[in-house]
Formats: sequence, C-alpha cells, structure tokens
Amino acid sequence: NWKLNHFVQENVEKIRKLVDTKKVILGFSGGVDSFVAAYIIHKAIGSSLYCIFVDTGFILKEEKEKISFFCKKMNLFIKIIDAKKRFLSSLIGIIDPEMKRKIIGKEFVSIFQEESEKIKNVEFLAQGTIYSDVIESSTYSSLKLLKNTFFIKSHHNVGGLPNLMKLKLLEPLKELFKDEVRKIGKYLGIPKEILYQHPFPGPGLSIRIIGEVNNKKISILKEAEMILLQELKNYNIYKSVSQAFIILLPIKSVGVMGDKRTYEYVAVLRVTNTEDFMTATFSHLPYNFLEKVSSRIINEVNGINRLVYDITSKPPATIEWE
Ligand code: XMP
Repeated sequence: NWKLNHFVQENVEKIRKLVDTKKVILGFSGGVDSFVAAYIIHKAIGSSLYCIFVDTGFILKEEKEKISFFCKKMNLFIKIIDAKKRFLSSLIGIIDPEMKRKIIGKEFVSIFQEESEKIKNVEFLAQGTIYSDVIESSTYSSLKLLKNTFFIKSHHNVGGLPNLMKLKLLEPLKELFKDEVRKIGKYLGIPKEILYQHPFPGPGLSIRIIGEVNNKKISILKEAEMILLQELKNYNIYKSVSQAFIILLPIKSVGVMGDKRTYEYVAVLRVTNTEDFMTATFSHLPYNFLEKVSSRIINEVNGINRLVYDITSKPPATIEWE
C-alpha cells in the first residue's frame, strides 16, 4: 500500500504543478484505465479536468447509464457527446474492417478537436494509455493514442495548427501494466464493477457486426450482448473468462419457431481466456450455460435464430472477427 500511495501522491503533485491554472481534456472510454487516469487527474486539479465520453452508438446497452452512475458516485464530471448519427452515417457502405477503424478514429479526432475548441485555456489532452497500449499502438489506433493518430493523419496540414495538435499529452498510467492499474484503482476505491470489466474495443459493436453496420443490426447485437452479460454473471463465469461477446454475421439461416418457418441472422458466441491478449484459447464453458444463453438469445432477440460457438484459439484466429 505504501507503494500505491506513493505513486498516487507523486503523480497528483506532478500533475498539479504541471497543469497549474490550465485546463485538461480527457478522452474517457468507461474502461478501468480511463477511470483510474481520470480519478488521479481529478484529485490533482478538480474541475479543471473535462472528461469527454463519446457515444458512438456502438457501445453496449446501458453503458452510458453505468458510466454516469459510477462517475457521479466518484464525483467525476463527464460530458457525454451523442455522436450516434455521425458515426453511423460515416460507415454507410463500409465493409472493410480496417476502413471501419480508420473512419471511426477520424471521427473521434474531429470530435475531440471540436470539444477542445470549446474550452478556454485547455493545454493538455489526457488519456488512460497504459504500457501495453504503447507497445500495441501500431496494431490499433482507436481512442487511445488519439493524438498520435491525429499526427499521422494530418502531417501534411500546413495551415494554422489545429487545437488538438497543440495540446500536450498527459498520460499518468503510461508505464503501468494492467494489474498495476487495477491495484491502484482498488486503492483509490474504484468499484469492482469497473476494475474487473472485460476489455471493450474502441470501435465497439461496429467491428462485431460483420460487414455493413445499420441501426437494426446494432439493436439486435445490443440485445444479444446484454443477455450474454447477464448470464455470465448469473452463472458466475464473468470473472473466470477474459472476454466474452457476440458477433453478428451477415448470413441468414432457416429455423422454426412454433409452427412458423423463420429466416433470420446467425450469431456467434465468442468467449476466450488469455493472459496478454496476444494469444488466447476459447473458453471451455459448461453446456448448461451454453444452452441457457442460446435459448435466451433465440427466444428473446428478434432477428437471430441460430447461435454457434467459436472454438478457435488465437493464433490462428484473432479474438475479434474483424
Ligand atoms: P484481436 O482480435 O486482435 O484482439 O485478437 C485483441 C484484443 O484487442 C481488442 N481489439 C481492439 N481494441 N481497438 C481497440 O481498442 C480496436 O480496434 C481493437 N480490435 C481488437 C480485442 O477486443 C481484444 O481484447
């Protein structure tokens, strides 16, 4: 505990001195890293911190409510930007996974650019970047490493420097591993629901809908993911797996419901165990759990009539499908 206390105190003082009377804008994702980073910076500078959470429309059901609830509990003020329409329309006709990521990254950057222009005296862009994000930044450039993405995208921008580029990065967790972030979070009193959350990719549900994204598919997937999450918790499995989610395929199959023929989407259950997310195995789940998830999703989600289980490890497959 002495070490944790030391880390927090040292950083709080450092940030307070560095930021002084300036303002900080923070890209808040709702994950454990962004909660811990926000908490430490808030401890240092209070209301000079502006946390921004972007609702891309590709987030889990009730995620916004969950974030609001815990932020309130921790006295963190966050601004929620409703950018659902904007993200969806930018993805019309897009099926390539990397294109999806690029477009989403660009939208994030534009939103942060706009938001930073609304705050007077803002001099820092904070992010909950941790050590593994730094290493993996070449693979994924979503919300984290926002500014780096921005630099890459706009290096040929010769006119006046956009606001975001002028901001200095503030990344208090940059040298920490995930388990260290969790320890600090626990020490700071961040609730378990946040500390032990499974990771969630920046592009969110948009890369779990294979092919083109639309509103109907988003709402189908949101319902299915919520059922999965509920059952993982009911069966006490959530904590023993590393990541669990549903993929919606662009394929329909025939089924029967009562005395009617159905023709609906096929969905995939993807659950993995991993230490470092570089390699992973599919989780060996109990059959009664699989049966429950399957029957609830098929019965309760309008639009899915078949659920299959992905039994591929990484490598050769990746954890996500896109
Ligand atoms: P893969 O699919 O590469 O996933 O085996 C490894 C881990 O990375 C997450 N992931 C992402 N995270 N932006 C993110 O922030 C992304 O574009 C992205 N793609 C995959 C994935 O959920 C898993 O935890």
